[in-house]
Amino acid sequence: MQLIFCRLRTHQWCFILFNVVLFHILFFGADLVEEYFLRALPNTYTDMKVLEARERARKLDMTPLKANISKAYVASRSEACSNQEIFLLVLVFGSPENLSRRNTIRETWANQTHVRGYGTLVLFVLGKPSSEGTQLEVVQEMEKHQDLIQGSFLDSVENQTLKTLMAVEWAVTFCSRARFILKADEEMFINLPSLVEYLLNLRTHPEDIYLGRLVHQEKPNRDPQSHGFVSQQKYPEKYYPDYCSATAFVISQDVARKIYVTSGEVPLSLPPGAFVGLCSKAAGVVPAHSSRFSGKKHIRYNRCCYKFIFTSSTARDTQLLQEWDEISNGKGCTVLETYYGLVSCKVMTYLDGFKHLSVDALQNEALHFAD
Ligand SMILES: *[C@@H]1O[C@H](CO)[C@@H](O)[C@H](O)[C@H]1NC(C)=O
Ligand SMILES: *[C@@H]1O[C@H](CO)[C@@H](O)[C@H](O)[C@H]1NC(C)=O
Ligand SMILES: *[C@@H]1O[C@H](CO)[C@@H](O)[C@H](O)[C@H]1NC(C)=O
Ligand SMILES: *[C@@H]1O[C@H](CO)[C@@H](O)[C@H](O)[C@H]1NC(C)=O
Repeated sequence: MQLIFCRLRTHQWCFILFNVVLFHILFFGADLVEEYFLRALPNTYTDMKVLEARERARKLDMTPLKANISKAYVASRSEACSNQEIFLLVLVFGSPENLSRRNTIRETWANQTHVRGYGTLVLFVLGKPSSEGTQLEVVQEMEKHQDLIQGSFLDSVENQTLKTLMAVEWAVTFCSRARFILKADEEMFINLPSLVEYLLNLRTHPEDIYLGRLVHQEKPNRDPQSHGFVSQQKYPEKYYPDYCSATAFVISQDVARKIYVTSGEVPLSLPPGAFVGLCSKAAGVVPAHSSRFSGKKHIRYNRCCYKFIFTSSTARDTQLLQEWDEISNGKGCTVLETYYGLVSCKVMTYLDGFKHLSVDALQNEALHFAD
């Protein structure tokens, strides 16, 4: 081996070097280019409506409404934030039936209250279950863990946008000093340390932060037969504005207030991600993209990769428990290990994408066959 390397000529070395560089450009360049083009540009606000919305958000005072708003909840946990300084408030959207999932989350990534001395708080947001029996279980869980917020609407697929608005309302009313708010779905793995670290490195007074995996130029669902159909009257434009995938995104406290004051102008029947996108657009807030958010994708597990990314969709409880055991064992990652981890999880996730495609294709074929 050594012999071969010694014998290489300059142009051969150059060729090898060129290939190594090319590999890296192709590999990581796409993420950088994507983040560059999708980055939020500093805004100047000339639109009177936008200026007026921002002013309303600045002046928003929820104190007189506190008592009234509490009535809209089965459990409002209005004191959850009051005695502590919260840097990042995490609102996990769960379904009332899924107690086992919540327990898994409590045992894994949510089991920490501080990152580098900055307070984090994880709460679960639920609506009402359709059965009385489940509600009794939820009440027991509430007493045991003290980390549930429950709205008095039915927790259904169609009501997820309502739930999102309720969560925003809760945050601006009862946790108005939390600097950042992360909304996450229950199937997500969240890496709190790396996310907090990232948020700490933003400018000193970060405002207008709306960060996640960007969904670019998505068309509304125009198929009247399907679930989640959006009519022309409800949303006449061809595309939704850019927004952050609703699986997990971060907003700063001021953006939560801005979304709250503009929410009246946007129909609640739109999907939650697009709804938040439209509300923030009305207040002049531009979403920013980070490739460390996974969106709906499952990122193939690698310890050092998972210490770097912000989220991954990890639906199986056993998998999350196993992986968490390894992630939280205290072992660090060298630069080289992190680098190798990123390459490995990127390649594997990419290949998984193909596998899903071909499985889908096979299933489609099988269906045709059955027809
Ligand atoms: C609270 O609600 C009651 C009845 O719904 C209403 O009369 C009152 O004005 C409300 N208070 C505030 C501060 O909005
Ligand atoms: C959280 O972690 C601590 C150790 O760091 C452990 O003692 C505790 O049991 C964990 N809590 C849960 C709910 O798993
Ligand atoms: C949404 O919640 C409201 C209030 O509980 C309920 O009346 C309505 O039926 C729910 N919508 C759906 C589609 O479940
Ligand atoms: C509970 O949550 C997990 C993860 O999102 C999901 O895979 C599972 O289907 C859910 N179960 C129920 C009963 O909702």
